[in-house]
Amino acid sequence: MPGVIQLRTEVPGPKSRALLARRGQAVPRGVPAVTPIAVVHAEGAVVTDADGNRLIDFGGGIGVVNTGHRHPSVVAAVKDQLDRFGHVCFPVSTYEPYVELAERLNRITPGDHPKRTFLLNSGAEAVENAIKVARSFTGRQAVVCFEHGFHGRTNLTLALTSKVMPYKKGFGPFAPEVYRIPFPYCYRCGEAGKRVSGEGTQVGGAPCCMASRERLEQIFATTVDPTSVAAVIMELELGEGGFVPAPKEYVDELARFARDHGILFIADEIQTGFGRTGKLFACEHYGLVPDIITTAKSLAGGLPLAAVTGRADVLDAPQVGGLGGTYGGNPLACAAALAVLDAMEAERIPERAARMGEQIRRRFCQWAARHACIGDVRGLGAMVAMELVVDRATKAPDKALTARLLAAALDRGVILLSSGTYGNTVRVLAPLTTPEAVIDEGLEAIEQALEAIV
Ligand SMILES: Cc1ncc(COP(=O)(O)O)c(C=O)c1O
Repeated sequence: MPGVIQLRTEVPGPKSRALLARRGQAVPRGVPAVTPIAVVHAEGAVVTDADGNRLIDFGGGIGVVNTGHRHPSVVAAVKDQLDRFGHVCFPVSTYEPYVELAERLNRITPGDHPKRTFLLNSGAEAVENAIKVARSFTGRQAVVCFEHGFHGRTNLTLALTSKVMPYKKGFGPFAPEVYRIPFPYCYRCGEAGKRVSGEGTQVGGAPCCMASRERLEQIFATTVDPTSVAAVIMELELGEGGFVPAPKEYVDELARFARDHGILFIADEIQTGFGRTGKLFACEHYGLVPDIITTAKSLAGGLPLAAVTGRADVLDAPQVGGLGGTYGGNPLACAAALAVLDAMEAERIPERAARMGEQIRRRFCQWAARHACIGDVRGLGAMVAMELVVDRATKAPDKALTARLLAAALDRGVILLSSGTYGNTVRVLAPLTTPEAVIDEGLEAIEQALEAIV
């Protein structure tokens, strides 16, 4: 059977190169061009570039199209909404798609307590607002976040984001009262780090040396007084930080510590959300019911939309007029999100993600058995990654090899992304609707790329 990859020119071809040249003259270099291709069409998991090359998209717009590019019911819902009205501003006039989406998110997020949801435009905006709400409710100012965490690029979220280059360098001063503690990154942490490659971190896997009350108390003793902390914000599996899932026992211990000190637990599910980990939310792997949950990315299948969902008493704390914005919960984005959530249920997308994750993990582990440059294979469901190292003993990150692998995969028709503080993690964010045969075709191309460069 012919595959879906079709290459008519080298990648990038002349038309992509021409647009990239115009971009270089019109757009500041700070906005990165992670791949050098210009896109003219995208459908499902296939992206067509300006030169007519068809590529498999293992990046999914950085985790935004879990339901695939141009999911038919998302396209139909947006067109239908546009035929009614495009914008009235929710703080000015109420419309049903916003209210229905809030009801829906209140119902499907973990926990059956009374909840509220309000809508925003981007992940960073959701995180900013989650912190505002937590401060308003607790009357406390401090926020605790994690090494390797990523929460956005606005001033407060940059303070929460860990990685200096390229995100923070030159952009200070950052928002005050933000305290960073170590993330339980087992592969790069003492005893658990001696695990054999391919046994990547799983929830309930190797015991975590940081998962004790005593250890948490030690950490807080030299960081911040817990009674002044409004919230701890955590990605249960680091996204930009390199697809590192936290061990369950650590999350249990942290959640207990937070509860005992009146600290709210904010789960940032912006990248882990909407089926990616094999469950609708990563929290479900941990039995965690967070006080607040932030979502964005795949919520609206490609339209800009983000949400803050949480305990009704917490979210009702800010005064009338304290929350909102001009575009937050735009009707087109709400219509798209309702169609996305319908598709998640009807097409059993989280279950498909779990199967896809197994398919990818199996293949990554086979490669790890042959190539010592693969130091770790890990991740929940289809949020799978491999970490490339110079050698397994030193675990020195191999950022250059990672860049070569991504380029070689693109040459063979696969859009692939890296992540991680050290830039040496190859991650998969393919649409969760991608057929098994297409995932196989993409993996085959990556395997050829790997064999060609090591
Ligand atoms: C976990 C997490 N939080 C927040 C953000 C910021 O989202 P946005 O880029 O929509 O502002 C991201 C983006 O990658 C993310 O992965």
